[in-house]
Amino acid sequence: MSTSRGRVVSTAYSRVAKPVLFRLDPERAHHLSLRAAAAAGTFAPTRHALSALMALDDRAGPGVDLWGLHFPNRLGLAAGMDKNGVAVPTWQALGFGHVEVGTVTAIAQPGNPQPRLVRLPRSGALINRMGFNNEGAAALAERLRTHRKRGLVGIPVGVSLGKSKVTDVERATADYLVSLDAVCDVADYIAVNVSSPNTPGLRSLQDAAPLRELLTTLVAAACGTPVLVKLAPDLSDAATDEALQVATDAGIVGIVASNTTLSRDSLHARDAVQAAQSGGLSGSPLTLRSRAIVARIARITDFPVIGVGGVMQVQDAAALLDAGASLVQVYTGLVYGGPSLVRGIRRL
Ligand code: FNR
Repeated sequence: MSTSRGRVVSTAYSRVAKPVLFRLDPERAHHLSLRAAAAAGTFAPTRHALSALMALDDRAGPGVDLWGLHFPNRLGLAAGMDKNGVAVPTWQALGFGHVEVGTVTAIAQPGNPQPRLVRLPRSGALINRMGFNNEGAAALAERLRTHRKRGLVGIPVGVSLGKSKVTDVERATADYLVSLDAVCDVADYIAVNVSSPNTPGLRSLQDAAPLRELLTTLVAAACGTPVLVKLAPDLSDAATDEALQVATDAGIVGIVASNTTLSRDSLHARDAVQAAQSGGLSGSPLTLRSRAIVARIARITDFPVIGVGGVMQVQDAAALLDAGASLVQVYTGLVYGGPSLVRGIRRL
């Protein structure tokens, strides 16, 4: 019974939804999907229908307790898919065990000019230079408060914070603090994003001195909410180790590894034209890199790690968990594989 429901989900995505969406401009396809997801989350019957279709009554893997939170399964939605938290109830209905919303900034901002999202289908990849388009931390907090008041949030919701574009990098800490203050009481955890390649200067916050100031200040101000940091896959081993030491000293409780890459390795030759686009690359080309970073962090620290990057199939998620991740997240895999990927991974 559940296998046939699984086949319905996978066929509906691969034969119907994906061919239609992939004919549209990538960002338009994203907005349409997100709008549909947000609408579906508003009504109990559609939420229940989604859960039934995803066979959520079926076997799920063991959950995990981390940072005082219960994660009902190991799979989460990566930051950037639902920046403003509009579809949290739907992600839960689809079977995700947690959601990382954002990245939001202190000041609402439109992001970079469009087009800013590119598909590389032969490589199973995306390049984005969205630039933190978002409605601002206060608007996200209000929306999460409403979801919670209506009893629609039963899984941990992390909030990813970034720096507003108009704020100089030297004043980044104060900017993050404004966002933290807005979301502190509605976030189950905070992910400090210092690793997006699309905000000028942001990645320099991974250097030891600014990272120490930023993380120490945010942990002290987080009113007990667990604070994690999300790192880039392009750091050298030495730079990663240094960032991990700073994170330890600052009282950070976990690492999200990792964000999109500036590298253009491991791409299909016929994606060369799109590969020249600026922005962060995600999807299949990141699979091995994210696995190696997770393994390194797990080997040299005691941090629980959220492994993210290039989870395109259930086996990729299993390999990240084997490498030492406590949780995994997906973004690009969902675009290419659809919701049936969720069914598979939540059973691990
Ligand atoms: C992202 N990602 C991202 N990460 C983050 O911390 N804040 C963000 O706002 C965004 N925005 C964003 C937009 C788009 C269009 C994409 C494709 C990605 C990065 C994402 O969370 C993840 O770290 C990487 O995409 C690697 O995972 P996948 O996509 O290979 O599963």
